[in-house]
This record gives sequence, structure tokens and C-alpha cells, in this order.
Amino acid sequence: MTLLCKLENIPDGNAVGMVAEVAGKKRNIFVVRRGQRVSAYLNWCPHNQVLIDQIPGQFFNHDKTYLQCSKHGALFRIDDGFCVKGPCEGEYLKALDSYILGENILIKD
Ligand code: FES
Repeated sequence: MTLLCKLENIPDGNAVGMVAEVAGKKRNIFVVRRGQRVSAYLNWCPHNQVLIDQIPGQFFNHDKTYLQCSKHGALFRIDDGFCVKGPCEGEYLKALDSYILGENILIKD
């Protein structure tokens, strides 16, 4: 397992990008928090293989109902990273196996 950060480092309803070791490699990832639930994904759009937050730190659409790639606007479900609209519709963000333990957010290797 890999420790990402403390739960309190991600304000409720927000997402934070970071670099973490995933399967032995340093990768750009981001973590979404909603209350006591977290979801973590590789920060890598399945359309053009670029960071989702081309505008640094901006991971959501305007009303925060979906994750949004800021390059061409693809929309992804927050819970599972499924692309519901955009050039990569039907594809997924790569989800990481994230969980909360005490005050910390971790991912399983
Ligand atoms: S690079 Fe993400 S929608 Fe095109």
C-alpha cells in the first residue's frame, strides 16, 4: 500500500492532483473526496493521453457533477471514471484501489 495524503488535505467535494508511486512507477494521479469517500485515478485522459487538469487543479465540470478533461471537455463519472460524453465516450479513467484508514488516504499496490 502507498500513503497518499491525509483526508483533511482534500477539502470535501474537491479533488487534488499529486505524484504517487503506482505499480513501481511515479505517476500523476488525482484523488476526489466526497465526505468519507474517496476515489483515485491516474491523471491521464484516455482520449489524448494528457493530464486531465490542463488547467492545473481543475478536475470538475462547472457544477461539479462530473470529472472533466480540460483539453476537449470529456465528462467522466466521479464514482467509476466512466466517460459519459466526449471524444473518449465509453472509455474509463484508470481507477486506483483507494481507501481511507484512520485519517489517511492510501492506495493498494
Ligand atoms: S484529451 Fe481529454 S478529452 Fe481530449
